[in-house]
Amino acid sequence: MRVSVVGTGYLGATHAACMAELGFEVLGLDIDQAKIDALTRGELPFHEPGLPELLLKHVQSGRLRFTTSYEEVGTWADAHFIGVGTPQKPGESAADLRYVDAAVTSLAEHITRDALIVGKSTVPVGTAERLGTLLADARAHAGLPGTVELAWNPEFLREGYAVQDTLAPDRLVVGVQSAHAEDLLRQIYAKSLAEGTPWITTDFATAELVKVAANAFLATKISFINAFSEITEAAGGDIGTLADAIGHDPRIGRKFLNAGVGFGGGCLPKDIRALQARVSELGLDRTMRFLAEMDDINLRRRDRVVDLAVQVLSHSLNGAIRTTGVGEGSGTVPSPAAVEILNGAKIAILGVTFKPHSDDVRDSPALDVANRLFTAGADVAVYDPKGNANAARRFPRLGYVNTLAKAVIGADLLILLTEWDEFRQMDPEDIGRLVDRKNIIDARNVLDPAPWQTAGFTHAALGHRFAPDASV
Ligand code: UDX
Repeated sequence: MRVSVVGTGYLGATHAACMAELGFEVLGLDIDQAKIDALTRGELPFHEPGLPELLLKHVQSGRLRFTTSYEEVGTWADAHFIGVGTPQKPGESAADLRYVDAAVTSLAEHITRDALIVGKSTVPVGTAERLGTLLADARAHAGLPGTVELAWNPEFLREGYAVQDTLAPDRLVVGVQSAHAEDLLRQIYAKSLAEGTPWITTDFATAELVKVAANAFLATKISFINAFSEITEAAGGDIGTLADAIGHDPRIGRKFLNAGVGFGGGCLPKDIRALQARVSELGLDRTMRFLAEMDDINLRRRDRVVDLAVQVLSHSLNGAIRTTGVGEGSGTVPSPAAVEILNGAKIAILGVTFKPHSDDVRDSPALDVANRLFTAGADVAVYDPKGNANAARRFPRLGYVNTLAKAVIGADLLILLTEWDEFRQMDPEDIGRLVDRKNIIDARNVLDPAPWQTAGFTHAALGHRFAPDASV
């Protein structure tokens, strides 16, 4: 079986390389010539553990090739996977579907044999049905040989674990309209099926909804624990212990209950907004209203970090704790209190990617916090093991350094914003010798406060009341 993958971004490139690993001949297609040239040389334009090796191996073996020609894939492949982006429309909540529409139309106009088109992109419910009509119309108009069917097979891969999630998925969900389409997909995923991966055959709407429901649920879990962080910050209590304790209940589970600066990335934020927009279109405005609250809770965490920076620095400078008030004034326009305290303060920003093991800074809470502190006048030194280059493209005026030591030298405050291992493993004594003032904020709740306090640091963390005089 020959497989094409349309769209060679994060999802498409991963899927193409993994399909080659499964033994298929694969042709990846993108309209971006520069991307195709890089992939053809075996170069991956983003960071993803394990993927560069797979790409190179199969490009060298000739099993994986790349092209910009729809004509080439249309005459060649038996199955065409669509992995193009569905970004948030600028200034709106809804998803922009122009790339999926263009991919289906272009395939319809170039396929010259029996083939299956398999959508993998995350789309609002109802899209596959609409694309089915688009496909039928385009085929009728094109008058080309071959019967072309559509199926929907959402991906659930996580950045940083994309290869593992593609080769050994938790489940396979296929939305199909014929036994023939299901048979072809069963052949493609035969290895996973043999390994016992749960297989769910369903209709288009359910397949589309499974993906957005999973992401909405994950976002809700994170925001739920972060809402409790607001309570423990005000009333006392330990958010980590709380998460551990409720997580022991198997109905709840401990995963995705890590309190911190909140969720970001190319999926969760845009997917929950697109879901709200879609249910509104369906006349169900109230149904997903809680997701707007989740979004708010998530964004308030960034305010909280800026406010904690003001509290920690004011305490360090003059022993008094000033506050900006969470949710008021620390947003994109800094409050006078924030400017007064932060102006000129040297702050080491540890991590700017939306999560570790990725160089992705899309909708990154960490990068947003760094920029807010900079906007308030702080002198920020940003260090991320993989994300500096992407961050610098987004916010070129921030100060970037290429080692942890350079970031912390002379700092008044360190803020850990992405939980890279390099930051988890920091030695408080060593770091203490480099800084000007011993202050650290753990915005991911991954550091043990005790050794930091022993080394003389004022330690603050999200989900914990800031009471330095009581703790030191
Ligand atoms: C997510 C889904 O997990 C994946 O199934 C889907 O296909 C795409 O979207 P990804 O965006 O790669 O994957 O990241 P994920 O690991 O889900 O983390 C999302 C965000 O939530 C990150 O910013 C992370 O730091 C944050 N997070 C995660 C928390 O703040 N706390 C947690 O407990 C877990």
